Amino acid sequence: MRTRFPAPAQAFCERLGVDYPLIGGPMYPCSNPELTAAVSAAGGIGILQPISLTYVHGHDFREGIRLMQRLTDRPIGMNALIEKSSRRYHERMRTWIDIALEEGVRFFVTSLGKPDWVVERVHAVGGLVYHDVTELKWARIGLDNGVDGLICVNNRAGGHAGPKSMQELYDELRRLGAPLVCAGGIGGSGDFWQALDTGYAACQLGTRFIASHECRASDVYKQAVVDAGESDIVLSEKVTGVPVSVINTDYIRRQGTALGGFARWMLAGERRKHWMRLFYGLKSIWQLKRSSLDDSGEQDYWQAGKSVADIHDIRSCESIVQSLISREA
Ligand SMILES: Cc1cc2nc3c(=O)[nH]c(=O)nc-3n(C[C@H](O)[C@H](O)[C@H](O)COP(=O)(O)O)c2cc1C
Repeated sequence: MRTRFPAPAQAFCERLGVDYPLIGGPMYPCSNPELTAAVSAAGGIGILQPISLTYVHGHDFREGIRLMQRLTDRPIGMNALIEKSSRRYHERMRTWIDIALEEGVRFFVTSLGKPDWVVERVHAVGGLVYHDVTELKWARIGLDNGVDGLICVNNRAGGHAGPKSMQELYDELRRLGAPLVCAGGIGGSGDFWQALDTGYAACQLGTRFIASHECRASDVYKQAVVDAGESDIVLSEKVTGVPVSVINTDYIRRQGTALGGFARWMLAGERRKHWMRLFYGLKSIWQLKRSSLDDSGEQDYWQAGKSVADIHDIRSCESIVQSLISREA
């Protein structure tokens, strides 16, 4: 029997052409094309992360999309981090978006920045743009710039977590009238259904899919996700300069989680902060790539959210998705 979802979730499935209101969130460096395609093949929608696809997993961008499309004929999406940094990065992102559109990608998740130029391109071919937000002011910017829905990143999320709980964010953003996707803290079917019953149109999961057969992260990283409890997740500023959820390993304890005085001084200055952000951007891209693939466990800089509390095994994406959508699990 086909699973019935609450009306906002049913509408989400119809708009995106998917079976289940479930997004496999973009993850730098954990999104490899096999993982993204597997979430889509399982009935949700996997979101490709372009830097992970090209720099970490070594694919040409267009060929990487074609690989995913050979693995599944279901829709896939793309993450566009559109923060204004360098002109070169902006041009590269614009090219990636154009290639993705040429290859038939029609669902985009934008993070940071003003998404108007992405919306313009994507709407021109009938696609949809959802924007990552952690609070009302970012949601307003996204909607004023034409996005179709909001990815509501809460305080239990992996990656850059927000300050608010799943319920607080819902209460704050529901009056805007846009479809809301719950991102953060969902590891099992209890939380998945709680979010849908609250009124969210879908759930975006990251951490749960790290502990999957299709994810190419190292075995020690996957096992650390399985072994960790909620209290093992801490926020570290040391990775990107802003707080990121990581597993509190010996390595993290040795490094500390707070920025040093020099980094704080650099980030406080209007002109200086640009250079500090660039430094953190490059450092974190390199460091996270190395630690996610390294099986020695010596560089254990492992991003994960509080949903680790509900993750007890490494399984296929198909099995993860089926247990999430089952109310009984
Ligand atoms: C390892 C990791 C890397 C992530 N990288 C990105 C990213 O590159 N872009 C992005 O928009 N979100 C990123 N996220 C956030 C996820 O897409 C998703 O919103 C989040 O993981 C949901 O919380 P959960 O981990 O509790 O399921 C990342 C999350 C994790 C765990």
